[in-house]
Amino acid sequence: MGNAQEVSAAGNDNGIESRIRDLLERMTLEQKIGQLNQVQAWGDNIVESLAPAIRAGRVGSVINIVDPNVINALQHIAVHESEHGIPLLIARDVIHGYHTVAPLPIGQAASWNPEVVRACARLSAQEASAFGVNWTFAPMIDISRDPRWGRIAESLGEDPYLTGVLGAAMVEGFQVSETGGADTLVACAKHFAGYGASEAGRDYNTTNIPENELRNVYLPPFFAAVEAGVGTFMTSFSDIDGIPATASDFLLDQVLRKEWSFDGAVVSDWDSIHQLVVHGFSENDVEATYEAATAGVEIDMIGGVYERHLPELVHQGRVSMQRVDELVGNVLRVKFRAGLMDRDVTELPSVPPRMTALNMAREAAEQSLVLLRNEHGTLPLNAETLSSIAVIGPLADEPAEQLGTWVFDGDAERSVTPLAALNSMLEGTVEIRHVRGLETTRSKDKGGFDEALCAAEQSDAVVLFIGEEAILSGEAHCRADITLPGVQEDLIRHLRSAGKPVIGVVLAGRPLALGGIIDGFDALIYAWHPGTMGGPAIADTLFGRVVPSGKLPVSFPTMSGQVPIYYGYKQTGRPATPDTVIHIDEIPAAATQTSLGMTTFHLDAGYEPLFPFGFGLSYTDFAYTDLALDRHHIRMGESVVAEITLTNSGAVAGAEVVQLYIRDRFASLTRPIRELKRFERVTLEPGESRRVRFELHTDDLAFFRRNKTYGAEPGAFDLWIGGDSTTDLGTEFHIDA
Ligand code: NOJ
Repeated sequence: MGNAQEVSAAGNDNGIESRIRDLLERMTLEQKIGQLNQVQAWGDNIVESLAPAIRAGRVGSVINIVDPNVINALQHIAVHESEHGIPLLIARDVIHGYHTVAPLPIGQAASWNPEVVRACARLSAQEASAFGVNWTFAPMIDISRDPRWGRIAESLGEDPYLTGVLGAAMVEGFQVSETGGADTLVACAKHFAGYGASEAGRDYNTTNIPENELRNVYLPPFFAAVEAGVGTFMTSFSDIDGIPATASDFLLDQVLRKEWSFDGAVVSDWDSIHQLVVHGFSENDVEATYEAATAGVEIDMIGGVYERHLPELVHQGRVSMQRVDELVGNVLRVKFRAGLMDRDVTELPSVPPRMTALNMAREAAEQSLVLLRNEHGTLPLNAETLSSIAVIGPLADEPAEQLGTWVFDGDAERSVTPLAALNSMLEGTVEIRHVRGLETTRSKDKGGFDEALCAAEQSDAVVLFIGEEAILSGEAHCRADITLPGVQEDLIRHLRSAGKPVIGVVLAGRPLALGGIIDGFDALIYAWHPGTMGGPAIADTLFGRVVPSGKLPVSFPTMSGQVPIYYGYKQTGRPATPDTVIHIDEIPAAATQTSLGMTTFHLDAGYEPLFPFGFGLSYTDFAYTDLALDRHHIRMGESVVAEITLTNSGAVAGAEVVQLYIRDRFASLTRPIRELKRFERVTLEPGESRRVRFELHTDDLAFFRRNKTYGAEPGAFDLWIGGDSTTDLGTEFHIDA
């Protein structure tokens, strides 16, 4: 990870720096601290209640106010009635859509398509800005390797490189350019840093991340966001190495400001400056304010502690005026860069056409679906040969649930459910028998099972919509047992007795542990929470109008106890191999031996996931041949070019995500057994071939080393290319000393 000097435009930014200095010279301490103060308000009298503080310059930002008339009234006061006329940052969690909702971020990540991710963010920005919002708290780029953690739904998965590429695309989609525009949003890279490592997958929990892991796994996506020009960062709720992120001068000053030259603003998470006291880190709010302000948190999200305590700290000389000016300057820079100071912020852009939005949401949903199983070509279904299908399950017709978590503004009325889409697609051709079977995914009442079985028996195939409602994932919605909730597994087994093909469609905000039930499906589509247009995307995929192309952005465990499980694990000194794994059922009753395999595996789950990172089936087949490198020896500072021929050897057109992995065989620190370094989505007609080319520079092989510097090390590297993280089509190359 290099230096971000070139991405920092401070100093030659269209006069922005001198305008900031000019303002700072004219502002009082109270007005300066106002820029660091984010407030919330609700009820019928928001304008009246906030007007005096905004007029006095004591508020720089508001959160969760969504009525455009109210927003415009507040902006009018800030711009025309306050002394310096500085507009407000209007913050809202626009995570995967505003009124029109795209798939969950984890679903968007399954597209492995930066264009789609960028376009979804662009659409969200256009919709949200039309209602006065100008700042979103996304992308969430916490590496997420523990699906018990409910916030995995909001993440881009387990991999630093994939998360970095897609997170940067999201930043570009929200912000469009460094100078913003009326229909853009300032983005926020969150949560800095390591939140995804919350112990036991329990939200807000402590994290234990050694510096090697932090810098090689958790930080790279944040650096990618800085390179993409992200305007703001948010601190994590969690502590890391005993220091809450909101007070971490290591993270906020050393890494973010000094090493990466970030010159935007950092916002605390919700009340997390005050929570330094709750952590047992600061004795009171005064000390919490001191810690956060000196570490480098610009904006206090709704806590009010900066407003209350920063003045006294400045008067006591514990926080210098220069420090305050740095913090305020960083906030003003965000406002200048976003163009807020130079346009009429009350002139809102128009809402994008609904059809444009729906088409985008549909395309994203199509690409987010991952086909995990397809025995004997069960899918696609053929509307010409089927006479009826049974559509069963608690999630077949739930307009709100399919939107997933973080949809404060999502309009469930525009959702098209899978049942609605199937009805309109199959009308007059294939009969649909719809039975819910279970009230919710978590209900335990089996009263509807027999009616569901009856529908299955009368139909040619069963399509079962199961998984988790939106409320079972997201912030503070964690689970210890990540199997299908309630009695859904029993429902699946019950339906199997009908003897008809069972096609599962799982809607969920996390990878579920499906090992105990996977054989109950003839085919299985993982749909995540697919958003507004999830229904048509699923219906089209079931019937082959869309060929599935999604790939898993996160490994799927066989059972809950395997987590965290991820493809880039460490070799260890005793790596498991298929021949060393012993299953608990294979241990003889009278066994006396104490050594069982002596490698790193679970007696009841082995060591492999149920479905690996990068995995996803298609209705066509792809062949990988002729892997070649332009050379097998490079020197530091040089590149190697890898090429492969991809052929669509099946019968229909389809898209494949070609993935390139490497392994640094020996290094000064133990390295992952595989690391994703490149990928490309390629669409091919049947019979068509394409030579796919990837260039890797030695900088791409750099890591944070034993001597605590970044760089690649000479030696041997394995390189593989294929359709998932287990591909064994490989070769090797060397960086010569
Ligand atoms: C708390 C969450 O952790 C954060 O991600 C979100 O942006 C803020 N609340 C604001 O709603």
